[in-house]
This record gives sequence, structure tokens and C-alpha cells, in this order.
Amino acid sequence: MVEVKGFKEGLEDVVAADSAICYIDGTKGILSYRGIDIHDLADHSTFEEVCFLLWEGRLPKPDELRSIRRSLGEERNLPAEMLRLLTSLVPHLTPMDALRTVVSALAETDPDVRDMSPAANRRKAIRLTGQIATIVAAHHRIRESRPVIDPDPSLGHAEDFLRMLNGTKPTAEAAKAFDVALVLHADHELNASTFAARVTAATLADMHSAITSAIATLKGPLHGGANEAVIRMLTDIGSLERVDDALHGKLARKEKIMGFGHRVYHTEDPRATHLRAMSKALAESSGETRWYDMSRRIEKIMNEEKKLNSNVDFYSASVYYMLGIPPDLFTPIFAVSRISGWAAHVLEQYANNRLIRPRAEYIGPDYPQPYVPIEKR
Ligand SMILES: CC(C)(COP(=O)(O)OP(=O)(O)OC[C@H]1O[C@@H](n2cnc3c(N)ncnc32)[C@H](O)[C@@H]1OP(=O)(O)O)[C@@H](O)C(=O)NCCC(=O)NCCS
Repeated sequence: MVEVKGFKEGLEDVVAADSAICYIDGTKGILSYRGIDIHDLADHSTFEEVCFLLWEGRLPKPDELRSIRRSLGEERNLPAEMLRLLTSLVPHLTPMDALRTVVSALAETDPDVRDMSPAANRRKAIRLTGQIATIVAAHHRIRESRPVIDPDPSLGHAEDFLRMLNGTKPTAEAAKAFDVALVLHADHELNASTFAARVTAATLADMHSAITSAIATLKGPLHGGANEAVIRMLTDIGSLERVDDALHGKLARKEKIMGFGHRVYHTEDPRATHLRAMSKALAESSGETRWYDMSRRIEKIMNEEKKLNSNVDFYSASVYYMLGIPPDLFTPIFAVSRISGWAAHVLEQYANNRLIRPRAEYIGPDYPQPYVPIEKR
């Protein structure tokens, strides 16, 4: 990492906000939401429970859990004009671009859009979390010329998303695996997209604007776009026998291997621990172990040669692939989960706001430079 004058590039190690949402110890490999360890949440919680935890700061009581599950289910309904917009976007935009565009447009259909009260912003958090799942599923159905499936509010968010995507109810194993993936991706402190959401919220722009910024930021391959890049790498390599040559070639060409490295973790990303186990379980239960075996081999080479660990995006790629999810939906699916964390951070920002406006170290031409009239240039 290049140290430039008084700061490190990429705001590395800069603390930019107080936050009570997510605690990470990058040296010990600890991640917690509101102090509860991610391993406990992955083993025992659900996405709905995690949403409540992130937004309210505590675990829900049984009636509160039933209520948030029901509200999320009802809010998965998408206004008819948004379905028409999705249809018009299908030939032109990728799923991630369509998601960003429709979330931006959703503002105009939201009854609370201009209400900045805490209660209205909580309603928007629930609504956007519900609607983002439906946008991703509906866009995929429309581009495949298949009918859009209406949400079923009686189902859990993970199960209903897979049903809206595929048109059939997922197996209990698939629904559970997807729910755990949503739990694992829900929040991660001041990652790039969450920081973008907070910067937008700190101008007192509305929640739809903040979430649109976050989706745009998630898209890049150094952030949420890495999971799609991982599966493209795996399918390009194609077989376990070809992994060593392919990986060594990429490393010799100084290519970055997607799904490895992390700004904060100096040990294993705790989310990768779960996703690796899920990838293995799905591989064994389906009898197709190729993607898991290849991933393990790539991980070994990266550990040995680059001393780099896998991050959340590495094994989520094979997990989603084995769940039958198309690769260009991997990053939008990240947003299906991360909206919960984004919304929690936007609520926290509004609750104790100050404009986020850093400075730049000026490295341009010396001041003052003469203004040269156009006819003399
Ligand atoms: C996550 C990431 C963006 C963090 O970036 P960062 O903190 O700015 O770290 P850098 O990109 O400066 O990397 C530091 C060194 O490790 C190397 N490195 C980091 N990640 C690497 C990777 N995935 N493959 C190969 N080398 C990698 C860099 O080349 C650099 O080496 P150098 O010092 O010899 O130039 C980076 O690790 C990366 O690009 N990973 C791949 C994309 C990815 O998986 N993103 C999802 C993150 S959850």
C-alpha cells in the first residue's frame, strides 16, 4: 500500500463514523451484527430476524418476528408501473443496471418518499428490502419471456425469492442455504457501498437516493461484482485438472484473482468459512463436486503463493451456481441481502447526521497559474 503524505490511499484504516451496527476484528476474523457473532447468526437466525436486529438494535420477540416477516412479505409487491418499466429495460440493461434504475424510479411510487421522519424511513427500509428481491426475480423472468410470479407473503424472504425466480418452491435445503447466504451478506460495516449510502444520506437526500448510490457502488468487480467474476473464472477454467496451469498463468500475468484478499481481514473472512461448508454440502448432495473441488484447489494455491485468503465472494459463487442461479444475478443477489445493512446505516446516519465532506491533498499545478485568454492558447 502506497502511503501518500498524511493519508493512506483508499481511506485504508480511516475511521469515518461512529456506528453501533457491525463489529469486525480483521485480525481475529470476527464479524458480528450488533455484537452477536456471525457464526451464531448463520447457525440459528433467519434473514428476517437479522433485518430486525440491524434496524432495531436487538433481536425480535416472537410476535415482532412474525410481524416483520409478514411486512416484508407484503412489501415484496411491486407497483404495476415498475413491472412495466422492467419490461422496457429488459433488452437494454443487465440485471444490476436494471436494479439500480428501478430502485431509483421506485421513489416516485413510494408513499413516504418525501417523509424523512424515523417512522417513515423504517417503513422505507422494509419496503425497499421487500421490493429489491422482487425486482431481481421479476427482471429475470421477464428477460426469459416467462410470467412474473407474485410474491407469497406467507413465505420467508429467501424461500419466496427463489420461488419468484424459478417459478417453483425450492427444496428445504436450497431455501435454508439461500437464507444463510442472505444472513452472511447482510452487513459489513463501512464497506464501499455502505459508505456511499451514508455519504448520500448525510446530505439529507432521501433513502431511495442513498440506496441507489449503494447499488451503483456495489456493482464494481472490486466489491460486489467479484462473485460473478469468480464463477466466470471457474467456468472458464472448466475442470480441476486445468486449475493449476490456469492459476499460475494468471498470477504470472499479475492478474488479480477474484474472491481473494480483503481490506479489513488479515485472516480468514468468517463468512467464507460458512460459505465453503455450504458449497461442500451442496456439492455432495447434488453429486456434482467439480466447482467445489476447483475452488478448494484455487484456495490452496492462493494461500501458498500469495498468502491470501478467500473472501465472502469466493464460495458464494459456487453456492449460488449450485442453487441454479444465473451468474449475472450473483451481484444483484448481494443487494437482495445487503439492502438490510444499507438501510440500517442510513437510519443511523439520519439519527446523528453531519455532512460527510473530506478534503483532498492537492497535487495539481502550483498556485497561482495565469489564466491564458483563449486566443493566446
Ligand atoms: C479486496 C481488495 C479490493 C482489497 O484491496 P486493497 O486493500 O486495496 O489491497 P490491494 O489491491 O492494494 O492489494 C495488496 C496486494 O495484494 C495483492 N492482491 C490483493 N488481492 C489480490 C487478489 N485477489 N489476487 C492477487 N493479488 C492480490 C495486490 O496485487 C497487492 O500486491 P502488491 O502490493 O504486490 O501490489 C483486493 O484484495 C482485491 O482486488 N480482491 C479481488 C476482488 C474481490 O474479491 N473483491 C471482493 C472483496 S470482499
